[in-house]
Amino acid sequence: MTQPTIESILKEKRNFPPSAEFAENAIIGSMEKYRELYDAAKADPQGFWAELAEQELHWFQKWDQVLDWQPPHAKWFVNGKINISYNCLDRHLNTWRRNKAAIIWEGEPGDSRTLTYAQLHREVCQMANVYKQLGVKKGDIVGIYMPMIPEAAIAMLACARIGAAHSVIFGGFSSEALRTRLLDAEAKLVVTADGGFRKDKTIPLKPAVDEALRDNGVPSVDNVLVVQRTQEKVHMDAGRDHWWHDLQAGVSANCPAEPMDSEDLLFILYTSGTTGKPKGVVHTTGGYNLYTHITTKWTFDLKETDVYWCTADVGWITGHSYIVYGPLSNGATSLMYEGAPRPSNPGCLWDVVEKYGVSIFYTAPTAIRALIKMGEHHPNARDLSSLRILGTVGEPINPEAWMWYHRVIGGGRCPIVDTWWQTETGGFMLTPLPGAIPTKPGSATLPFPGIMADVVDLEGNPVGENEGGYLVVKHPWPSMMRTVYGDDDRFRRTYWEHIPPKDGQYLYFAGDGARKDEDGYFWVMGRVDDVISVSGHRLGTMEVESALVSHPAVAEAAVVGRPDEVKGEEVVAFVTLEGEYEASDDLSNELKQHVVKEIGAIARPGDIRFTDGMPKTRSGKIMRRLLRNLASGQEVAGDTSTLEDRSVLDKLRSGA
Ligand code: PRX
Repeated sequence: MTQPTIESILKEKRNFPPSAEFAENAIIGSMEKYRELYDAAKADPQGFWAELAEQELHWFQKWDQVLDWQPPHAKWFVNGKINISYNCLDRHLNTWRRNKAAIIWEGEPGDSRTLTYAQLHREVCQMANVYKQLGVKKGDIVGIYMPMIPEAAIAMLACARIGAAHSVIFGGFSSEALRTRLLDAEAKLVVTADGGFRKDKTIPLKPAVDEALRDNGVPSVDNVLVVQRTQEKVHMDAGRDHWWHDLQAGVSANCPAEPMDSEDLLFILYTSGTTGKPKGVVHTTGGYNLYTHITTKWTFDLKETDVYWCTADVGWITGHSYIVYGPLSNGATSLMYEGAPRPSNPGCLWDVVEKYGVSIFYTAPTAIRALIKMGEHHPNARDLSSLRILGTVGEPINPEAWMWYHRVIGGGRCPIVDTWWQTETGGFMLTPLPGAIPTKPGSATLPFPGIMADVVDLEGNPVGENEGGYLVVKHPWPSMMRTVYGDDDRFRRTYWEHIPPKDGQYLYFAGDGARKDEDGYFWVMGRVDDVISVSGHRLGTMEVESALVSHPAVAEAAVVGRPDEVKGEEVVAFVTLEGEYEASDDLSNELKQHVVKEIGAIARPGDIRFTDGMPKTRSGKIMRRLLRNLASGQEVAGDTSTLEDRSVLDKLRSGA
């Protein structure tokens, strides 16, 4: 079992304060300092954020109102003019950072590249000019479907530079998932690569783009810009497809950053929800820039000499906020790695730490659990003494994995920042500040200053100490999502209507269950909706069900998560077949493959269970709770009196 239980939380009493030496050198070096900031932000949120915005960022023009809050819509730094690519690049050029490494990149086959701030600036300007040549204008949307190479970050920053918005689609998504996202965003241009290297294989990307665009699949796309990475032969459509290196060769590197309105669209990022259709989470410019900047700085206690490495993919929010925008806005060195631990080199992550002297390392619990399985001799054989802070994100971390991370990777000396946040929140919401907040294994500890989080019941009343409830945020914050792209109604319904406003205060509903302990520490328990987390990747059960029922053999499908030791959860699908089809291993494999084709390998069911019928209530609702019990081999718990036909359950139990 990897999900925490209330019993395990109540038993978890270990507590790790920062060492005196760490605290002494930290930006926020004591609990008093944290409290001071937290209280100041609570007393005057607008004053708090305005002061930071002024101190930390460059503005072409100052805002005339800090916050315009028309629940559930927030505008931050109203009428301020800003450009996040300017903040990430230009403003570092007149300092010694000009020749500092902005991005250190390590390719899986062992090739590598370092881009200084001056070099990165140059390439971003060139790509921005190429966009312009290809007819991309301010307000247009550019789809980015890339491997983990520097050009992925360059493509994002180039959008921001000219005021185009990006929609990055994770390179592991299938062509069909790519198509639906490009279609929803009405993307004009797609930036991709021939492919990438991962786990000793090449991952073809351009062929997936071809497939997505086939037969005018996405009519809004006029051009495709292709970066050469694997050198594999790909089809190039004359007039539509262009090699990046060809166009780069003839383009100017002069492209001033466009002053953007603080509330101009910066990007859309699709994420899974409780319906079949992924939602485009909308983030805008000024507030997002400020919040990712300050959370990176304080949570990772950034020093000028740090080598910072976040192992996420740029296709997820973690890559957006904490590989690209947050670190570069701070002038930090951000490491990007193309590969992943693989049989031919299970210790590759530690090779990278050793090679570059990585000082801050940020990864996901699922990766930590996989590394534990590979054995500690891999990290033990490398010099990891450069590390000073470790981080984790994406799902609750089980205390055993936390302790291993602390002992084996951190040598017992590195604070662990367990950061709870979401695509929707843009940046860290609950997190230790490593020089100030003592950590407890499995807890994301306390809210970041300026974040008013709580655990409440469905009426919005705070629950008691150590009682379970819903995690909510009470006051708007600068990097909150602004809406669901093209579906504001869904934005209201999903995040603002589950729990009614309390005493006139709107509550952002995160979709997670949590508890607060006697020290006010938050323990996030996992999703309370039909979203599951497979290797830290968020999947909507309905999304997988829709994929399954689009196969001609499937009459009905119900998908649940089953606890998995490494992945956190695994997809289990209960399937009823159309009359003419018969259950078989071949069909099971075909259905798994069908899900991969419709969504991507991350959604591949671990198990398909054929059944004659689903356990349903009298009103026809599938009782997923029962399926979850069955999938994990547990006794069916709780009330089954609303079940319409009990024999269905008996059959499912006996595997008939
Ligand atoms: O359930 C929570 C879990 O990941 C969800 C957000 O997923 P996504 O938008 O894909 O963003 C992942 C990276 C920010 C949350 O609703 N989650 C994220 N971080 C944690 C977590 N659960 C427990 N502890 C965390 N530190």
